Order: sequence, then structure tokens, then C-alpha cells
Amino acid sequence: MAAEITRNVARCAQVLRTGGLVAFATETVYGLGANALNPTAVAKIFAAKRRPEFDPLIVHVAEIGDIEPLAKTSHPLFETLSQQFWPGPLTLLLPKLDIIPDLVTSGLPDVGIRIPANDVARQLIKVAGVPVAAPSANLFGRTSPTTAAHVVEQLGESVDLVLDDGPCSVGVESTIVRMTGPSSLEVLRVGGTTLEMLQTVCSEVTVVSNLLDETAPAAPGQLASHYAPLTPIQIVNDWSTTDLPPCAAALCFQQAPPDHENLSIVEILSPDGSLVEATANFFAALRRLDCPDIDVILAERFPDRELGVALNDRLRRAATR
Ligand code: TXA
Ligand code: MG
Repeated sequence: MAAEITRNVARCAQVLRTGGLVAFATETVYGLGANALNPTAVAKIFAAKRRPEFDPLIVHVAEIGDIEPLAKTSHPLFETLSQQFWPGPLTLLLPKLDIIPDLVTSGLPDVGIRIPANDVARQLIKVAGVPVAAPSANLFGRTSPTTAAHVVEQLGESVDLVLDDGPCSVGVESTIVRMTGPSSLEVLRVGGTTLEMLQTVCSEVTVVSNLLDETAPAAPGQLASHYAPLTPIQIVNDWSTTDLPPCAAALCFQQAPPDHENLSIVEILSPDGSLVEATANFFAALRRLDCPDIDVILAERFPDRELGVALNDRLRRAATR
């Protein structure tokens, strides 16, 4: 039976407390949550997603004070980053304390921690009274969910409840950061907190690109192939040199390509050219184009700035198979 979609926070919190799985809205994408301190509950996440256990989970908390029993916060950049960007789409890697089960971090010494900006998500964590481990609520390697219905499509049989709070406002996953020196950090995954935003508080921001190195990924889940629809994706740098075959669909930033009459479907993510709006629409549009009568999705490259950097990253991985 497919999981029930609800807006009842107390019921969802009760399921989390008793070791069940609750998918819930965050501002980035929907998460598949379990009590992070209960290894049996955490194991259900890996089983439901068919996710390999070498791929660690992010732990979500409601406020900064909740982190103290879980991880060390002594790095000099912690205060600046947490004050500036939390609640929000930023995950900080912190040295874990023993209370975090090894399954959560796949045996790594650091745990990813995030305080989501979505009020309902923070309320859920607060009422549950436990930290919540949650990957994106999709099958491993597939397109991330930005609505409750997306979750039910892929995980409806394995999740106990879905806490609905409408479509995600940001639409792309959190940026994952490792603090290195006193004013330097490494970005393991570009996401909802842009590089430009990080550069306002940190003099050295290095993107650790591991796209082509599957043997030693810096964020183990950052495999070259990820976020993939079933339909092949081709990235378009220039429409004027791109063939538009029959049964192709186009995913465009601001406007339809020239000669688009031949295309089966055209999705325009932001007619106003807003990267924020395009990001909020991105994964849902990709899902709409992922249908059996489409042979190829032609996806236009985004401007390489702000949220466009995260969108291009998702496109590259979705196009890799
Ligand atoms: O926005 C988000 O981050 C969403 C929402 C639900 O919060 N979560 C999410 O989780 O995207 P997931 O599991 O789909 O992606 C998390 C990524 C994975 O690539 C994982 O390998 C990496 O974070 N990660 C988690 N913990 C890590 C750690 N301790 N060290 C290195 N990478 C880690
Ligand atoms: Mg994911």
C-alpha cells in the first residue's frame, strides 16, 4: 500500500521516535528521515533507497544547541558559517562524537550536519526530539524529489508517512562544506548556498571536483552518475549546432530553442531568467520530460554563476551513465 501523505507533524514525529521512516519537506528537496541515533532505523533508509552503505547520510537538527552532543564545533569558521547560513541549504562536515552510529557516516570520522530552513521540517525534528538522518527521498542515483507526490512515486511502498509542505522553495540539495583553515573551506557538493555567498565570509573557497574520480570521491555519494532520469540527457551548449531529432524534449533556462516546432515537449524553467526560479522548477521539469515517448532530453547549460553552478553540476551527473 502506498504511504499516506499528511500534514500532521505530531504523527510523523511519533513514527520517527518509534524507529520508522518519514519523508519530509525541506527547502532543498524532500528527505527520507529516520532517527539518526537508532542504527536499525537508519538501516531502513539504505534498504528503502537501495543505497550502498559506503554513502553517508546528513544529520538534520532543529537548532545549533542540538549539535553539541553529536559533533565537535570547535573549528574557528563554525560560528561564522552557522550564524550566516543556518537555517538553510548548507551542510557542514564536523568531527563526529561516539553517539553517532558508524552506519550514518559510513565509518568516516566526520558527520554532515544541517539545520533546514523549512519551518515544518524543524518543527518535526523538535517534536520528535531526536536528530534526523535524511538523504534525498529518491531511489539511489535517481532524480531528487521536490514534492510529496514525487516521493510516493519512488518510495511509496517503503516509507511510513510523507510530511507534505508543498513544493520545495530552493529545489536543489544543500552545499556540502569541509572547513579547513581559519578562513578556508572545501566545497564537496555545490548546492543551494552559492559559492558567491560562501566567498563573502571566507577568503579561500575551493571546489573539490571529483566528478571523474569514482574511486575516491570526496563526498562518497558524489558519483559521476547521479540524479538520473531513465531517458538519456544531452547537454546543449549551443542550439545552433544541435540537431533536434524527432521525439526529443528540451529543458531550457529562459526561452525555447530556435526551430523548436520539431520537439515533443519544451520546458522553460524561468521566462524571467531567474536562476532562483529555474532551480525551484528544475527537478520537477526533469521528471516531466522523463517519459517513455521521449528518446532524448536536450538540456541547455545554465550560466556558470550563483545557483547555475549547482544546476550545471546536476545536469552533468544526470547526463552521465
Ligand atoms: O539538501 C540536502 O542536503 C538533502 C536534504 C534532505 O537535506 N539531503 C541530501 O542527502 O541531499 P543525500 O544523501 O542525497 O546527499 C548527501 C551527500 C551524499 O553525496 C553523501 O555522500 C554526502 O552528502 N555526505 C554525507 N555525509 C558525509 C560525510 N560525513 N563525509 C562526506 N560526504 C558526506
Ligand atoms: Mg541524493
